[in-house]
Order: sequence, then C-alpha cells, then structure tokens
Amino acid sequence: MNLLVTGAAGFIGSAYVRMLLAAGAAQDNGVLRVTVLDSLTYAGSLDNLDLSDPRLTFVQGDICDAPLVDQLMAQADQVIHFAAESHVDRSIASADAFVRTNVTGTQTLLDAALRHNVDRFVHVSTDEVYGSVESGSRTEQDPLDPNSPYAASKAASDLLALSYHRTHGLDVRVTRCSNNYGPRQFPEKIIPLFLTTLLDGGDVPLYGDGLNRRDWLHVEDHCAAIELVRAGGSAGRVYNISGGIELSNRELTGRLLAACGADWTQVRHVPDRKGHDRRYSIDCTRMRTELGYSPRHDFESGLAETFAWYRDNRDWWEPLKRRQSAGPTGGAALRRPLGGLPA
Ligand SMILES: NC(=O)c1ccc[n+]([C@@H]2O[C@H](COP(=O)([O-])OP(=O)(O)OC[C@H]3O[C@@H](n4cnc5c(N)ncnc54)[C@H](O)[C@@H]3O)[C@@H](O)[C@H]2O)c1
Repeated sequence: MNLLVTGAAGFIGSAYVRMLLAAGAAQDNGVLRVTVLDSLTYAGSLDNLDLSDPRLTFVQGDICDAPLVDQLMAQADQVIHFAAESHVDRSIASADAFVRTNVTGTQTLLDAALRHNVDRFVHVSTDEVYGSVESGSRTEQDPLDPNSPYAASKAASDLLALSYHRTHGLDVRVTRCSNNYGPRQFPEKIIPLFLTTLLDGGDVPLYGDGLNRRDWLHVEDHCAAIELVRAGGSAGRVYNISGGIELSNRELTGRLLAACGADWTQVRHVPDRKGHDRRYSIDCTRMRTELGYSPRHDFESGLAETFAWYRDNRDWWEPLKRRQSAGPTGGAALRRPLGGLPA
C-alpha cells in the first residue's frame, strides 16, 4: 500500500510515520510504502524522519503545487493530510499563509485525490473548529464556530473535505483532536516553549489570568487514533479525539514548573491573546464505542517523558530557537508575547 502523508516533517505527522514504519516492519513485510510531502517551513525538520528507511520517500514540496500533488497522487492509494500552518499566534499576526496552506492546499489535495480515485483521504482537523465551549463537550454533530484565523482556516478545510465526500463520494474521514504534547513539538507551543525556556533558566509568559482550559492528548495516542480511523473508520464520518485531561493554563504551568524544578517567580503575566478561546472540550464517545479508542498515556508520565526528551535533546531544539529569534518572521513572532497554546 502506498500512503501519501503530508506535513510529516512536523510534530504529529512525523510521529505518525514513525509509528507506521515501526508497526509496518512487524506486519507488512515491506509492502508498506510511505511518501512524505512537506515544504519544510520553519516548523518542519528532516531530523524528525528516518530517511534511511527504504520504505520512506521524502519529497520537499508545497501542497498548493498542483502539478506536483497530481504526480504524487497518481501513485497513492491513501492520503493522510497533516500539512498545515498550525500556530494560532502566527495566524493573528498574519493569516495569509493559513488561508493558502490550510484552505487552498487542502483543496489542491482533494481535487487530485478525486482525479486519481484514491481509496481513502484522512483529513486531520482540530477541536478548535468548535470554538470556545462554556460547559459540556462538543460532539461531532455540533456546529462549527471557530474564532481565530487558524481555527477558521481549519474549519474551512474540514468542511471542504467533507463536501468532497458529500458531493463527489470521495472517501474522506475527518479527525478533530485536542491539544497534543510530546517530543519534537516546535518550541513555540506552550509545553515545549515553557520546558525549553525553563531548562535555560528563563522566564515563561502566561497569557491573561491563565484560566483558559484545554484538553491534552499525547501525540502517540493521537497517531494511534488516526490509524484506527484510517483502517476502520467510515467514509464521510467525523471523529473527535481527546486525551481526557483538562487543565487550565495555570495548572499546566504549575506542572511544567515542577517538572523543571522551577517556581512561580519564573512566570511573567502577559496581556491575553486577542480573541483567546476560554475552553475547548470534545466528546469522544464515537471513537471509543465505534473504534475501541482509549488513550494509553497518562498525563503525568507522558509529561515526565516529554520533559526528559527536551532535557536530553538540546541538539534538536536549540538551533530551532536560535533560527526563530534571528529570522525575519520568526523574530516578529517572538517579539509578540508567546505563551501560546498549541493549535
Ligand atoms: N499540535 C496540535 O496540538 C494539534 C491539535 C489538533 C490538530 N492539529 C493539526 O494536526 C496537523 C499537524 O500539526 P502539527 O502540530 O504537527 O504541525 P507542525 O506545525 O508541527 O507541522 C506542520 C508541517 O506541515 C508542513 N507544511 C506547512 N505548510 C506546508 C505546505 N504548504 N506544503 C507542504 N507542507 C507544509 C510544515 O513544514 C510542517 O512540517 C495540523 O493539520 C494541525 O492543524 C494539531
């Protein structure tokens, strides 16, 4: 089987490819072929992939490049679409790249998938498309009500993907997951930003009153859930994926400080993010009852392992942070009060 995986030089896509290739080695006797299409934006890194694996082909390219996408789609049986601009703060600074990649890029992939009759297209969306949830949890039937430009661009691509199922009969499956954490997350999102900053003895910025609430999901549990959807889900169906750990940013900060042996004197309160959603919460009964999903990682050990990974892999994140503070766009983003939540 030939899988085309977009955006897999990034955090979640690369974890998914590592998982597939590790499982494939045991199960598929080399039948599995994975092609990664990734343009290597600031968030993508080849260090995240084992390019020596003969089952893996890496293509550096843009999902908006229709001729390239067409060529790759001609060889693909199935598509797992991760590629996106993914950081809310950057979408507030400028939404251009978000609309281009998240909306136009997704449409380019869907058109090519249709032309080449691929048998499955898994679109990786987010719980942010439901907007802020005052109480209770959103199910897959609830309407979308995104607030940030990031979330709006993801909602557009999510609905576009579903429209290709309803209009053209393309086998599209959509996953909407909560905030991921784990190794190899770009150090602009709250957990790696705080861990790497505290490891360097710096101060971390906490948005507003710190009472915004998010659900946390280990990246490996997310990848396992996507694989359940790819292998056993249904065409045209949406699947919410949560980790079941809801924390305020203040509570999360307390845990990150404790992990690093730091204290509250290292927390700087900064003005709240514009339009900051107060709470996200999704109901993942469907994943549990239809596909047997349950997260394997408990938050405490998952966070301890993530801390240990950042402590032991400075070679991975130090150049990224240096590049970010030096580069023209990265510098602009860094001058904003980052304390951002993963998108
Ligand atoms: N990180 C989270 O907590 C989270 C939560 C819910 C949903 N998601 C979704 O999961 C997916 C992956 O998120 P992530 O955190 O791994 O993101 P990431 O920012 O770490 O990685 C995104 C990858 O996409 C690539 N990319 C960006 N624009 C591209 C383009 N035009 N063409 C080709 N490649 C391009 C980048 O180079 C990078 O490798 C995204 O669709 C995101 O919306 C993420």
